[in-house]
Amino acid sequence: MARTIEVLPDLVANQIAAGEVVERPASLVKELVENALDARARKVEIAIEGGGKRLVRVTDDGVGMSREDAVVCLDRHATSKIRSADDLRRVASFGFRGEALPSIAAVSRMTLETALEGGASSSAAGEPGTRVRVEGGRVTAVEDHPRRRGTTVEVRALFFNVPARARFLRSASGEARAVSEAVAALALTEPGVGFTLTSDGRPLLELPPARDLAERIGGVWGMDSAATLLPVSVAAQGTEIRGLVQRPDAARPGLRRAQLLVNGRPFRDPALLRAADHAYRTTVATGVRPWIFLEFIVPAGSVDVNVHPAKAEVRFRDRSAVEAAVEAAVREVLRGLVSAATFDRAPAPPLLAVRERPAPLEAPPGIQTALFVPAPSAGPESEDSEAPFPMPAADERPRLFQFHHTYILAESRDSVLIIDQHSAHERVLFERLMNSFADGGQVGQRLLFPLTVRLSRPEYEQVEALRGILERAGFEVEGFGGDTVIVHAVPHPHPWFDAERCFREMIAELTQGSELVRSARTQHERIGKTFACKAAIKAGQRLSAGEMLELFDALFATELPWHDVHGRPTVVRLSTAELARKFGR
Ligand SMILES: Nc1ncnc2c1ncn2[C@@H]1O[C@H](COP(=O)(O)OP(=O)(O)OP(=O)(O)O)[C@@H](O)[C@H]1O
Ligand SMILES: [Mg+2]
Repeated sequence: MARTIEVLPDLVANQIAAGEVVERPASLVKELVENALDARARKVEIAIEGGGKRLVRVTDDGVGMSREDAVVCLDRHATSKIRSADDLRRVASFGFRGEALPSIAAVSRMTLETALEGGASSSAAGEPGTRVRVEGGRVTAVEDHPRRRGTTVEVRALFFNVPARARFLRSASGEARAVSEAVAALALTEPGVGFTLTSDGRPLLELPPARDLAERIGGVWGMDSAATLLPVSVAAQGTEIRGLVQRPDAARPGLRRAQLLVNGRPFRDPALLRAADHAYRTTVATGVRPWIFLEFIVPAGSVDVNVHPAKAEVRFRDRSAVEAAVEAAVREVLRGLVSAATFDRAPAPPLLAVRERPAPLEAPPGIQTALFVPAPSAGPESEDSEAPFPMPAADERPRLFQFHHTYILAESRDSVLIIDQHSAHERVLFERLMNSFADGGQVGQRLLFPLTVRLSRPEYEQVEALRGILERAGFEVEGFGGDTVIVHAVPHPHPWFDAERCFREMIAELTQGSELVRSARTQHERIGKTFACKAAIKAGQRLSAGEMLELFDALFATELPWHDVHGRPTVVRLSTAELARKFGR
């Protein structure tokens, strides 16, 4: 029988590869900019026309190529970045497949101009710069082209020879937007490199070299946005996680900016973003999507970068450990003073390398009035010596002042704190109840005269369904026939607590559903949140000095003192630096 299998000529193979590597102008820009960065460019200029469909030009001041390399680089699997399969395990460059340039060249009219150091004259290597022209993958000219060191790749008429693919492209403005996103993403990977992007001659991005990620983010989305970010920096078991995440009170629903890098390489991983979101639990409302920029520095061999056609995904050897590390790292940041809401107009942009280490806090003296039950000891993290709150002096108690019977003013070393007494108490009650669930629940006070509460049918059913958890929250409930229940015992969070009202409101909210109820992940959390919300002392409640102090101490004994259970702040902070600015000091 005749042979029916043929090895495809390179030109066809490249066209097929182009389908995977070059989907649209943005992917082409990504490949070319990555090459520029791999060539150690300090400045990358990108110009597009017609959304990149008519023209994409990327100019860099990197190391450039010799004439020989300028021709060879258009061959499939021609790469200077790896030499053996073993190198794949520790590849530090963006590219490594030797696929991008031949794939792009196969579906466009491409001109590549390049020169080594001294290429404008006759270089040290003894040759001037080079220009290579390629039409649909065929080299049509190789000529002298004096220029300064670096490389310019110009791609015209993308997909001119594969019209079927051209039809999938969007409008010029749609493609231009995608290009802009791609450039912004790459600019974040190398803050020290300058970038410019123009579209039909109009500047879209102008990013001078930045000192760090925060400054680069400021350059892309504005300094106001950058100032809402908090530094993350942890290291454990050979893996380091560093980056920036958003202050909860600044986070908004809708579009989120996010980027993940592993050893300098961007990758997509919705599960890791979810792990970070998980850390925000109870500090932001549902649907709110904080900005997240994290880089993982991992040992060679613990991640495989060669698993996706466009190199957009990676595979971690120990994924669940990485997810857990992300959640822990972000959670740690949200426990700190820096994550508190602030009145400061321009909080100092975060400095990544420096970590704020507040002075250790003396254990608060055990003053307890009737207002609150003593706080349970801080749980597994209690060996952590870092106090959440830098106080004026170790043995001094903060001076507290209540105003409008609603807010408590406190003084810390470098700021004034305004505490919302209701929000703060919510956080306290929520964490206490959640912690107590872990060992059996909180015990209610038996009532001398049990409450008889008439409910609607759905409410009654809700109570029946949740009876076990309600009991562990301190509400001992018994069915009484019809839709009536008897409440024999209730929790006792403070002297002004109205048990019946709290119970009714909780059950109504649990039955009808609410933002708060929906934001809970478990039944226990659902009860914990509604209880905290309904049982906390209200605005308008006058507090004695001792009661304020107790609330204050209880708040700062929680894991996340700066955020209530609705995802609102418990505290708004005004730094003395901002005050000095306001008064022109
Ligand atoms: N802007 C540039 N400056 C200097 N050398 C370049 C530039 N662009 C490409 N090269 C050289 O051409 C080679 C081929 O580039 P190409 O993008 O096709 O492959 P790669 O970057 O090695 O791998 P990948 O296909 O994964 O991107 C590179 O390895 C590099 O040596
Ligand atoms: Mg490349």
